[in-house]
Amino acid sequence: MGSKFDVYKGRSVLITGGLGFIGSNLARRLVEIGGVEITIVDALIPEQGGNLFNIEDIRNRVTVHIADIGDESVANHVVGGVDYIFNLAGSTSHLDSMFCPQRDLELNCAAQLVLLEACRNFNPHVKVVFTSTRQVYGEPLYLPVDEQHRVLPPDINGIHNLAAEHYHLLYHRLYGLRSVVLRLTNTYGPRQLMEHDRQSFIAWFIRQAMDGETIELFGEGRQRRDLNYVDDVVDALLLAAASDATDGQIYNLGGEEPIALVDLAKLLISMTGRGHISCTPFPPERQLIDIGNIYSSYRKIETALGWRPQTPLRIGLRRTLEFYERHRERYWKRQAASSAGERSAKRHSH
Ligand SMILES: NC(=O)c1ccc[n+]([C@@H]2O[C@H](COP(=O)([O-])OP(=O)(O)OC[C@H]3O[C@@H](n4cnc5c(N)ncnc54)[C@H](O)[C@@H]3O)[C@@H](O)[C@H]2O)c1
Repeated sequence: MGSKFDVYKGRSVLITGGLGFIGSNLARRLVEIGGVEITIVDALIPEQGGNLFNIEDIRNRVTVHIADIGDESVANHVVGGVDYIFNLAGSTSHLDSMFCPQRDLELNCAAQLVLLEACRNFNPHVKVVFTSTRQVYGEPLYLPVDEQHRVLPPDINGIHNLAAEHYHLLYHRLYGLRSVVLRLTNTYGPRQLMEHDRQSFIAWFIRQAMDGETIELFGEGRQRRDLNYVDDVVDALLLAAASDATDGQIYNLGGEEPIALVDLAKLLISMTGRGHISCTPFPPERQLIDIGNIYSSYRKIETALGWRPQTPLRIGLRRTLEFYERHRERYWKRQAASSAGERSAKRHSH
């Protein structure tokens, strides 16, 4: 029996940022679909999620370029002749963007323009899926936020993601590039960066629980967030790319039920049988860019493409924990309890 993703068979796909968390899970799914020519370009930027172990067991099924899409000769070379580009290369840390705004500009804007120019010159009608963030909405005026909600990014990373969205949409309107933007919410699952606490609070909570450490909650951890398991995000990427109706559109992804951070921490502690919770005042650099409760409506993509999250939180977390139980040493070194706790109290990314 055919599958809804058979459209990819015999096609060629480029994944920028394909050694990272979401990109590598996407590459693995494309290998499962079969008959897809897969090229990954990833610069293995330090402190980001790129990890060769993410593709170790599919290494002979994909072509990998360790290279920067902000390098014109690289971008010109990789975009030629591909049918789909999943453009996932970028810096995700909101906190890092506040410490190094110029670097965030290079990775999330300048590099994107180089890639888009390469498309315009060498593959002008290619389908491009760009992964943005629901952080572009800023502090919500209403919940859940839908695509009509005003945008007011609360940090440098949000501004640059919004600019990159507009670059993609402009190249669609002016030059016929078939771009679509997905605004992702907090995504979790196997193959995520676990080394430090500035990319994902979920990954950090998982690590702390597994190591029997203290999960530090800012305020009382009452902020509510929605979460997506990575396989569901991969489904959305594949559906969005496969449809002509998505050209020039923006879609939110979103989770089923928002959960308070304190409840997520408790759930992880009960599932692992390890870890503790403590509450601490917001560090000032976090308080500055925190947007409180936020979760997204995914109604637009559900109506257009039939996508909705399929993986219940407990099941997604169980799969994630099992993965890291098997492969923990590939993702983080166990820290002395005191130093990990001290760092966590300073800053982790919600
Ligand atoms: N993970 C989430 O919760 C989340 C939420 C919202 C949006 N997103 C977006 O999804 C995308 C993928 O996120 P992720 O969690 O997989 O991140 P990740 O850090 O695991 O992967 C990003 C990858 O991109 C690579 N990269 C960055 N700049 C590059 C460049 N100029 N050239 C080549 N490679 C480059 C990095 O080396 C890394 O491997 C990002 O654009 C991010 O903004 C993710």
